[in-house]
Amino acid sequence: MNKEILSKIDSRYKLIIDELEPYVFSGPESFSHFKTDVWGMEIKDENFISCLNSKRKNFFLNLQALDAFSFGPVGMPMERWVFFDCGEMPGGIFGFGTKAKNLPAEILKNYKEISSPEEFLPLSMYIAIPMVTGAWFGHNLCSANSVLKQHKEYKGLALLTKALGSLVFNITDHYGATQWDSGSLNIHLQLSPMELRSAFTPAHSFDETITYFSTYGEAKILAALQGSNVTVADYDFLVESKDRTKMVELQNEIEDGAQYKICGRPIYKDNKVFLPVKEGKL
Ligand SMILES: CC(C)(COP(=O)(O)OP(=O)(O)OC[C@H]1O[C@@H](n2cnc3c(N)ncnc32)[C@H](O)[C@@H]1OP(=O)(O)O)[C@@H](O)C(=O)NCCC(=O)NCCS
Repeated sequence: MNKEILSKIDSRYKLIIDELEPYVFSGPESFSHFKTDVWGMEIKDENFISCLNSKRKNFFLNLQALDAFSFGPVGMPMERWVFFDCGEMPGGIFGFGTKAKNLPAEILKNYKEISSPEEFLPLSMYIAIPMVTGAWFGHNLCSANSVLKQHKEYKGLALLTKALGSLVFNITDHYGATQWDSGSLNIHLQLSPMELRSAFTPAHSFDETITYFSTYGEAKILAALQGSNVTVADYDFLVESKDRTKMVELQNEIEDGAQYKICGRPIYKDNKVFLPVKEGKL
């Protein structure tokens, strides 16, 4: 990767920049619509991977393996047609990866198909899908850090993946859905406050899901990656991440026209997780 980026973001992400390779995976007609020189970031030609190229079959299988092992048994494992129909063809996938030869055997056993030491393996992915409004929907974010840890942890892998992915896809208006107790809130809220579009979501497989709206863009993303955690003292109230009654109450208020935003990263206290909420729009 070009050294220009190093001067802009926190040094804790240096290992990712120095050791891993970014990739873009989508339908081939989409490549030219993406911004692929973000902060001088170089994406090798062979790392623009077309979902229509049968010779890259191992990559598709290994991406599906990454989704399954990172989410674990309680996750929402995706069929390959879901990646294809709902992610790769209409939108895109951005992430970091490395060659098999750079990883020890105990990490490699999590993947499905490795035909040579040169096999390029995905270590993280952010899937974003364009919406009819011109906004984008963040469909999936995951990283291999939970298994990489035994070998070497790439701190900030998911954060950097979503942050740089949002710039590659040129996303300003962003929607997403996540659970109140998800650790990934640390990542989404590091990038931006989240306006609550729903606080309790029976349409989703997990009803304790937040649907959120955030705005991104280069200046905001750069600020998020400069090292200080987005913590806030200036909130109206806290929501405990398992408080279903409060979620339903907030949902009813939102449906009656109230506006709320989660304004900072989760607060961990007495073995519980709290989200700081403020009234109003972003
Ligand atoms: C959640 C997940 C994406 C985090 O990946 P990761 O690469 O370990 O995360 P990062 O290193 O980028 O973390 C960025 C920050 O968030 C914090 N964070 C990440 N996961 C966290 C968790 N589960 N609980 C608390 N904090 C967490 C990190 O400590 C780090 O904090 P810092 O800014 O103070 O250094 C990963 O564990 C995963 O793939 N989980 C399964 C899939 C999932 O839940 N995806 C989210 C769907 S919305």
